[in-house]
Amino acid sequence: MDAGTNGRGEDAWNSVLKAQGEEREKRIAELVSSMSLGDKIREMSGTTNLFKQLYMVLHYNKFPFLAGGNRRQGIPPIRFTDGPRGVALGNSTCFPVSMARGSSWDRELEERIGEAMGVEARSQGSDFFGGVCVNLPRHPGWGRAQETFGEDPYLVGEMGAALVRGLRKHVMACVKHFACNSIEESRFYVDVRVGERPLREVYLPHFKRCLDAGAAAVMSAYNRVNGEYCAHNRHLLRDILKGEWGFKGPVMSDFLWGTRDTVKAALGGLDIEMPLRIHFGRKLKKAVRDGRVPESLIDESVTRILRVKAAYAEAGDRARYSRECVACGEHRALALESARKSMVLLKNEGGLLPLDRGSIKSLAVIGKLADMPNIGDKGSSRVRPPYVITPLQGIRDLAGEVEVRYHDGSDPGQAAAVAAGCDAAVVVVGFTGKDEGESIPYMKGVGGDREDLSLRAEDVSLIASVAGAVERCVVVVEAGSAFLTAGWRDKAGAILVAWYPGMEGGRALAEIVFGEVNPSGKLPVTFPEDNGQLPYFDKRARSIEYGYYHGYRLFDKEGMEPAFPFGFGLSYTEFVYSNLRLSAGVLEDGGSITVKADVTNEGERAGEEVAQLYVSCPAKAIDRPLKELKGFARLRLEPGETGTASFELKTEDLAYYDEESSSWRMEEGSYTVLVGSSSRSGDLPLSSTFTFRKSGTGS
Ligand code: BGC
Repeated sequence: MDAGTNGRGEDAWNSVLKAQGEEREKRIAELVSSMSLGDKIREMSGTTNLFKQLYMVLHYNKFPFLAGGNRRQGIPPIRFTDGPRGVALGNSTCFPVSMARGSSWDRELEERIGEAMGVEARSQGSDFFGGVCVNLPRHPGWGRAQETFGEDPYLVGEMGAALVRGLRKHVMACVKHFACNSIEESRFYVDVRVGERPLREVYLPHFKRCLDAGAAAVMSAYNRVNGEYCAHNRHLLRDILKGEWGFKGPVMSDFLWGTRDTVKAALGGLDIEMPLRIHFGRKLKKAVRDGRVPESLIDESVTRILRVKAAYAEAGDRARYSRECVACGEHRALALESARKSMVLLKNEGGLLPLDRGSIKSLAVIGKLADMPNIGDKGSSRVRPPYVITPLQGIRDLAGEVEVRYHDGSDPGQAAAVAAGCDAAVVVVGFTGKDEGESIPYMKGVGGDREDLSLRAEDVSLIASVAGAVERCVVVVEAGSAFLTAGWRDKAGAILVAWYPGMEGGRALAEIVFGEVNPSGKLPVTFPEDNGQLPYFDKRARSIEYGYYHGYRLFDKEGMEPAFPFGFGLSYTEFVYSNLRLSAGVLEDGGSITVKADVTNEGERAGEEVAQLYVSCPAKAIDRPLKELKGFARLRLEPGETGTASFELKTEDLAYYDEESSSWRMEEGSYTVLVGSSSRSGDLPLSSTFTFRKSGTGS
């Protein structure tokens, strides 16, 4: 960030930057008290000039959106840009969507991706990244599910925190959309009714996790929670976020309809209105003058804003920022690594995959999506990479001597005839930004929710035709979240979920198909057998109840069998779990236990496995889920090699939120630890117990 410019007030800002800790806080307070009401209020809203605003109606995200900033005082503006599958500016690297990256369960990789995004943002004039989306898709058909990492608060929190750790080295990371934003088409008005316990245990913990990892700002959601718009929601913003969690940064509104009322927003805890000055600006000044908003609240907001600006003023590594590093080789390699690790193999009958290029002579590639750059929705998260490798291109590039014959699938009979003349077929079906994604007002047929998770009827009949014509039929599905497989999965020999795999996706897909890469992704969402297994969802709901159970917790509770469980994913090799050990049999209040398990690669190929740890609580005092994810570890193992997955369980990991006392509680008793390859009980071969004891209680 450039402090830039000259002027009388600049000294005050420079003296803020020179100080640290309490001294910096003191100088910020002095600066704020020296600012006029007008200057302070200017810090609290978007300041992109009219020309750029008009330009961005047609070319959204062409420039960073500005907020605040004061030339005279040398205070820089915030320079906002979107994500999360890359930087929305210019021709940035397009990574797989977050749901895909959630399938990698790879924190270390996500941190590197965050770092690359931070570098690309800074290189294109932005210092504030609004692409840490950690909303929980209570129903997997939420149109923007592709922007988040999965259905589980722990997984989403871990991956979101990793993204933040990478980003914060270069930019202010903004976590969104606070909170309970998971219906797209009614996002501007829906009232999410949610009890305090589900709110604290299910819908909020991952936000806190990202803040603890160093996120600089929070974006409030459009929707209401328990009757109040999120940007005005005192309970969410003041009581929980700024109060209990002690968050010291600013809350920014979601854009345009994210703020509805000047006084309610200011009193509720909103600090920055984006992207324009509609409810803040003049109206806010008047509200302060009329005594409807105390000036102390304005001072508090400005303090929060200046605090993060100062913290990031010297952040980063300027030598690394240049146009050349945008979509550079290193970042494209990262996009490829991410695509390789995120695809999920759901079915592989008789070891159909990988296809051996030495023994097949011809391969049919079928479906219009095979030949289409399909990298996700076209709303605010849109990234425009310099190129996209489609599945067809990826397969052609790696096919070697194998003849590739393509048909777009528009005529299933002809497609089947092409497949019949080949040794194997890869059918690529699924969704695009027209079927799911951000819903933009007045733009019909773009984005929105998928209330019904079925594939399109044309896709189902294409699969049937091709699978009927060739013995070895691989179905690849591009999607942002779960879909139904019941009507067609028996016909496919192999099923691979590619998600929206980013600019290098086609290459990663081909590598998996031909066995150069062993698939290792695991589902971050439960794939149901039918729509009826999912929580109630109404994309036009004015009001909706968000209960305690969704995802695998709901399947466990109701004893329902999903099509493919949370955490599931096949490999070309076989992993065997053994030797579970706990560092202690008793967990004392405030302490921790280390859980270790061995994983052996018993197959003939090297591979990566995501070992998962679930905990089952005693549930005598209160209803608890049958089990909850509390740890995961990714291991790379050579054939015959044994590795150890290690997890740490802390007291607070066992806590539940007690609505009566408004506090977190732990129940004494016996807890079961389960370790294995997915959330399905049959995939959790290792189990053991430990006792949790509160301090002062006898043995
Ligand atoms: C989206 C946000 C996005 C913002 C700015 C809104 O419509 O909900 O996620 O950051 O636009 O583009």
